Amino acid sequence: MRQLDGRKCSFLFCLGIVVCSIIYGLIRTKPVEKPSSSRPFPIECKPVLSDIEKGNKNCQIENYLRSGGLLCSNLTTELHFINATLSREEENYPLAFIITIHKELEVFVRMLRAIYMPQNVYCIHVDAKAPMEYQEAVEKLASCFDNVFLSSRREKVTYAGFSRLQADLNCMKDLSTSPIPWRKVINLCGQDFPVMSNLELVQYMQSKEWRDKNMTPGVKQPATMRHRTRFQHWEIVGSYVVPRVPRHVKAPPPHKLQIYFGTAYYALTRDFVDFVLKDQIARDFLEWSKDTFSPDEHYWVTLNHIKEAPGSRINGGWEGSIRAIKWRDQEGKSHDGCKGHYVRDICVYGTEDLQWIIEKNGMFANKFESNTFPEALYCLEHWHRNKVLKQATVPIDPSWQLNSEIHSRTSPLNKLC
Ligand SMILES: *[C@@H]1O[C@H](CO)[C@@H](O)[C@H](O)[C@H]1NC(C)=O
Ligand SMILES: *[C@@H]1O[C@H](CO)[C@@H](O)[C@H](O)[C@H]1NC(C)=O
Repeated sequence: MRQLDGRKCSFLFCLGIVVCSIIYGLIRTKPVEKPSSSRPFPIECKPVLSDIEKGNKNCQIENYLRSGGLLCSNLTTELHFINATLSREEENYPLAFIITIHKELEVFVRMLRAIYMPQNVYCIHVDAKAPMEYQEAVEKLASCFDNVFLSSRREKVTYAGFSRLQADLNCMKDLSTSPIPWRKVINLCGQDFPVMSNLELVQYMQSKEWRDKNMTPGVKQPATMRHRTRFQHWEIVGSYVVPRVPRHVKAPPPHKLQIYFGTAYYALTRDFVDFVLKDQIARDFLEWSKDTFSPDEHYWVTLNHIKEAPGSRINGGWEGSIRAIKWRDQEGKSHDGCKGHYVRDICVYGTEDLQWIIEKNGMFANKFESNTFPEALYCLEHWHRNKVLKQATVPIDPSWQLNSEIHSRTSPLNKLC
């Protein structure tokens, strides 16, 4: 087990949605799609790829952000942030987002501008271990928006540790007092990218199945995961989590709770968040979870299976299109292979994975890297932005077009930005 944990702790914490998502993938996904050789990637890739061929290889928004001396008015326009609410439907259903990050600033900024809408609210938890320069760049970006803020408390996040769960809770506390009347909160990590538009998210969250319900994909804790909560674990803060030696069997969970196991990703109602922060069962269970392995993968899903919790789904399983992920061991089952590369058994997408992602139509896809496969990220963001603008019911400001000439004339950023 030590060896397993040692290997695990080298994972990027935000990507480790762990084995459960394999099962999730199995259940969620349709049989293998036909090889999409006729349409290897969406049409939106064409201009992006031809730009890249012309030698216009990359755009580092990251460097732009770090360069300092930027005015917010320039920054938000030059980065093509959407600064108006695009429909009445979205206005009436503000969303809250919790984004935990520690690296890949480039992917994060592109993800933020893809999901950013002025009626929503965004809490960013920056790992207290992240380099100061990185933290300052994120602060700078957040300072340009009334509805984007950094969590008031920051943790040094340990993969599979309680600190990972605490990071989300810090944001929840801040969001619970937000004057923005957000309806549901969705958590993200820095290598996620949206597939659904904000409008589609709003519609999905209000669909018959999910209206007033929390989405926490997961099932009763399988025997193979039992060790996580049966034995006491120690978090070496900022590094890793190890089982206590010699083994120490924990007391059973408080309030006779049945432990569930699922993804660390969720979409929760505001009432549920209040319950998490205030209810005695939730608080006792949180306390009990402090010395377990990867508590973010049991905490939300367990609470969402108790009757008392607002919006709970006591018979719920893996339902909910929360993430599109290609796991290595699902090759030939739920997907036809990774066209980018695997990092610890999770696919980092290449352009030829995009058709699969788009057809799968999850809320978000994971994961992306800007250094290794920037084209996949650029293509998807063009495709996503085009969709968002097509669905808008208000006049489109030219600066919202990602490759609008109008701004590339004055901006130091090139078209790929
Ligand atoms: C902001 O943009 C204006 C017009 O595009 C430009 O003249 C000015 O130099 C920019 N300022 C900064 C600090 O980038
Ligand atoms: C959005 O930004 C553009 C470009 O800076 C500006 O012209 C427009 O007035 C802004 N719209 C709103 C609704 O603030």
